[in-house]
Amino acid sequence: GAPVEVDVSKMEPGQLIRVEWRGNPVWVVRRTQEILDGLPKHDNQLRDPNSDEPQQPEYAQNAYRSIKPELFVAVGLCTHLGCSPTYLPNTFGEQVQGVSAGFFCPCHGSKFDMAGRVFQGVPAPLNLVIPPYYYVNDTTILVG
Ligand code: FES
Repeated sequence: GAPVEVDVSKMEPGQLIRVEWRGNPVWVVRRTQEILDGLPKHDNQLRDPNSDEPQQPEYAQNAYRSIKPELFVAVGLCTHLGCSPTYLPNTFGEQVQGVSAGFFCPCHGSKFDMAGRVFQGVPAPLNLVIPPYYYVNDTTILVG
């Protein structure tokens, strides 16, 4: 499939843009500093702490699982049986299904944090997959 260009110049804090790449949904999410600061709280609740799935780019394995901390890029498919999880932005700090901000899979209840890291005790075995991508310039990402 052809690479897909994503313009991130007008993204609001917390916004998710969905594009299609090779027939799969790919998400780009603008994370706030608050979201980034909250990620380490999950470090001891993770099922796949080292992003062990094969063929992950190197930048899938840092603390934010991204090239730039503020922009998260991931394939929007649950690693259990491939449903597309629901994005739960932390608008009011409310918890939904035990997740304050992250992604909840409606099919069998898997939960992922804002770095796509899967929590323990759910069916999904692995973190969300990070696709290959790079920055063409400061405000344009090329996925693929
Ligand atoms: Fe997501 Fe089963 S497909 S939990």
